[in-house]
Amino acid sequence: LKPDAASAQSNFLVVGTVADLDNAGQILKDTEIGTIAVVRSPDNPQNLAAVDPTCTHNGCTTSWDSSSQSYNCPCHGAKFDAYGNGISGPSRKPLRTYDATIQGNSVLVRR
Ligand code: FES
Repeated sequence: LKPDAASAQSNFLVVGTVADLDNAGQILKDTEIGTIAVVRSPDNPQNLAAVDPTCTHNGCTTSWDSSSQSYNCPCHGAKFDAYGNGISGPSRKPLRTYDATIQGNSVLVRR
């Protein structure tokens, strides 16, 4: 690897495999920078959407519901779309987002 490529790669965390993503419909991983959830973008499944699923209302952990294509909070019912945007409920502040990409069989998230 050239120095540039090596430093670029060190900015990414491997959070799972493409098989994990497609079998479960999501990746949910605790990492050194917090919990990260990754799904395929509803608008373009070639792309990925990654968020910190920690609810911006009061810190409960939202969970991805593939049928409604939303992150739903169990505490007070906030809903966020795949990109972390608030849909309904007490918090319209978006979830924290990350850049995610596929490289080979790995799903990578930028720190
Ligand atoms: Fe998520 Fe209140 S903590 S809706």
